[in-house]
Amino acid sequence: MPPLVDTFGRLHDNLRISVTDRCNIRCFYCMPEDATNFQPRAEILSFEEVERFVRVAVSLGVNKIRLTGGEPLLRKDLPVLIQKILSIDGVRDLALTTNGVLLPKLAQPLFDAGLRRINVHLDTLRPERFRQITRRDDFDNVVEGIELCRSLGYGPIKINAVAVKNLVEDDIVPLARFGRERGIEVRYIEFMPLDSQGLWQRDKVLLMDDMLAMLAREICPLEPIPNQDPRAPATEFRFADGIGGVGFIASVSKPFCLNCNRIRLTADGHLRYCLFAIEEMNVKDLLRSGAGDEEIADLIRANVRAKWIGHEINTKGFVPPPRPMYAIGG
Ligand code: 5AD
Ligand code: SF4
Repeated sequence: MPPLVDTFGRLHDNLRISVTDRCNIRCFYCMPEDATNFQPRAEILSFEEVERFVRVAVSLGVNKIRLTGGEPLLRKDLPVLIQKILSIDGVRDLALTTNGVLLPKLAQPLFDAGLRRINVHLDTLRPERFRQITRRDDFDNVVEGIELCRSLGYGPIKINAVAVKNLVEDDIVPLARFGRERGIEVRYIEFMPLDSQGLWQRDKVLLMDDMLAMLAREICPLEPIPNQDPRAPATEFRFADGIGGVGFIASVSKPFCLNCNRIRLTADGHLRYCLFAIEEMNVKDLLRSGAGDEEIADLIRANVRAKWIGHEINTKGFVPPPRPMYAIGG
């Protein structure tokens, strides 16, 4: 079958699957404190439906898959889905993005199911600040979860930290040190306009260059890692003393849309060609109406063909997507 190439020549081989829009914490830049408008269970794709979709996507050239949420570990029996996906011929890489709260309980069963790559969301090493950001008290669980993943042999383990200006400046350096000491890459993600409460403003984004300067000043100079995969979203640096490195998802200051290789499936079965897409295509109805694989493949191709050149965060006309982060999957 022809590969998923869009009208700008970008090859799509990377699929992000949100398995739930629910979450057990409430990061202010993602969810309102009293979030309640989650999708009813019946609207969420079953594992069988997700597996079928993945098979079709893989037949079109997708080979990298990441599971996200909301918080994916809230999905009961997630290790079963991991096993199903890993058993599909052509899946070369499977990773998971989690807030880590449930890792103390689930790291072992997920590892047993075959998962090795994991990104844990952690913005701070100060419990008080953690509570302020997430409105929950789970700091110890997350750190315990990360340590457990290390001892089980996960790798690579990465930490995702959202960079909000006038808030996390004091956390940037300690997080990088924490990562350096543990062989974990910390990835700082510039705060993006995906929050459900419309809090985002350009001057609330802590920019990559500012973080680089802080790290260079307080730890040691950083050098760009040579020959990086141009299609990877993170810009990666290593510390000049040879101990570890950090990455930046600089969606605001240095958009990487020109190299985008991703499509997204939401928990309620909609296809999105961009985190910021306004339009989406309903694949759930196809999956539930007895459509053949070819019809599902056609919808995936149509979604990729419809893809725009890139998000417009940096333009006056920017319109935020109709779904917040937790209902898209990050
Ligand atoms: N801006 C940038 N990153 C965000 N995330 C959640 N909300 C935002 C936002 N508004 C990140 C979290 C999560 C990843 C999927 O997206 O760190 O790990
Ligand atoms: Fe939950 Fe992730 Fe959103 Fe935080 S950013 S509230 S962990 S879905």
